[in-house]
Amino acid sequence: MTDHILRMNGITKTFPGVKALQDVTLSVRRGEIHAICGENGAGKSTLMKVLSGVYPHGSYDGEIHFDGARCAFGGIRDSEHAGVVIIHQELALCPQLSIAENIFLGNERARRGLIDWNRTNHEAARLMERVGLRENPTTAVSDIGVGKQQLVEIAKALSKEVRLLILDEPTAALNDDDSAHLLDLLRGLRDEGITCVIISHKLNEVTAIADSVTIIRDGRTVETLDMATDDVTEDRIISGMVGRALDNRFPPHEPAIGEEVLRIEDWTVHSPSQPGRKVVDRASLTLRRGEIVGLAGLMGAGRTELAMSVFGRTYGVRVSGRIFKDGRPIEIRTVQDAIGHGLAYATEDRKRYGLNLIDDIKRNVSAAGLPRLARRGWVDEREEYRVAEGFRASMNIKAPGVSSVVGKLSGGNQQKVVLSKWILTEPDVLILDEPTRGIDVGAKYEIYTIINRLAGEGRAVLVISSELPELLGLCDRIYTLCEGRVTGEVARRDATQERLMHLMTKGQE
Ligand SMILES: Nc1ncnc2c1ncn2[C@@H]1O[C@H](COP(=O)(O)OP(=O)(O)OP(=O)(O)O)[C@@H](O)[C@H]1O
Ligand SMILES: [Mg+2]
Repeated sequence: MTDHILRMNGITKTFPGVKALQDVTLSVRRGEIHAICGENGAGKSTLMKVLSGVYPHGSYDGEIHFDGARCAFGGIRDSEHAGVVIIHQELALCPQLSIAENIFLGNERARRGLIDWNRTNHEAARLMERVGLRENPTTAVSDIGVGKQQLVEIAKALSKEVRLLILDEPTAALNDDDSAHLLDLLRGLRDEGITCVIISHKLNEVTAIADSVTIIRDGRTVETLDMATDDVTEDRIISGMVGRALDNRFPPHEPAIGEEVLRIEDWTVHSPSQPGRKVVDRASLTLRRGEIVGLAGLMGAGRTELAMSVFGRTYGVRVSGRIFKDGRPIEIRTVQDAIGHGLAYATEDRKRYGLNLIDDIKRNVSAAGLPRLARRGWVDEREEYRVAEGFRASMNIKAPGVSSVVGKLSGGNQQKVVLSKWILTEPDVLILDEPTRGIDVGAKYEIYTIINRLAGEGRAVLVISSELPELLGLCDRIYTLCEGRVTGEVARRDATQERLMHLMTKGQE
């Protein structure tokens, strides 16, 4: 008989107006890496929150058996006590605290009521070594990149004697190198006997690392596949997720490229925290009507900083350079200026800049496009509702209605709200920063279709993405950025992953 460390049976979970999970089963073998796949809003995060006691016993129906015992977790303290630790989709570290403080937050190493700093830092260092973090334990979390922050989360989990580690989209915000390191670490933990459940939209990672995969669709279990015995390909997982085969990951795109619409020249931006450092260094680029242009670069290359500094100087100090719109020089000093000149920027960090989480979908969608919805200074609420409903349908935003609060949507559906908000401003130039992060394969196709349509209407779209296949499949032209400098400009027909990678890392071919 197979040795299962976890069995979840008949799990049903409802929120007001939403049946998030219906009669879900999940069986995880001891010591395996078990992936969970499904579309945005399928119920993956909810299932893991049920498992880890975020939604306590009594707030759902069904049974959980962990290591032979029936569980009734009243909260995450109970689940952690049993050895079940969850790392959420959105990281939950305190940026101003040190790595060591974060690892032992809520679980302090104390003696006679005082924190024992020697022990805290010493034990933190040992855990950090296990996850391959070579930082000083006293370094503030805000000073390390997201890849390393993810490792701090794992070190924190290890400090709790974890036996089942749940990772909800751990690599969504990581570059390829950091992702590869994290997957290696998970393999190492598996060798030590730690069972992992991982949620991911990156199906290449799922096929590379998982021993089994369970597919969820619309709150129900579709199937569990065994990687060793079933012939599991990415296409196989996709057809389970969306209920049909997806022949092509990118919609066809016939570019009709027109006049130059935006030109940026000699753009230089300095870091606000280290004003001597140039984050963007004399960058120049042009966008033409009808064109989809990619911006490739590694983490820290300055892609987001370039976009944000152009978009109303929302990043950086001592910004210099010239911007031309339709051939004429323009000044953009604020976000209002940027919107007024027909620019839009959909952020990668939806929680911090993109959305008001306590407000509903329609208000978030209309936030940047209010002038279009206002009549004599008043927002036409019926029109606001109609427009938002239109986006809900065309973007396939999964929610009971446009009056649903955005903070309660699944991660991918929040991303769709950010995109809707900026598309509504009908910009001439739309800058999309990691537009498909955390988005499922089916919804990616929808978003690519929308990008194509916008270009077809004569707008220019600048796409920032860490996924090179996405840039290659979508863009007419791609710029590469390396350490703040534009190092290359490659037409679609000449672009390959290798060529882009060279330009992104070495700054030359
Ligand atoms: N606290 C909540 N209140 C109301 N509805 C919720 C809440 N949390 C989740 N939902 C709804 O439950 C459904 C499942 O959401 P869940 O976050 O589990 O999806 P997911 O599979 O993790 O998606 P994603 O891949 O986008 O992260 C969605 O329709 C979501 O809007
Ligand atoms: Mg989720």
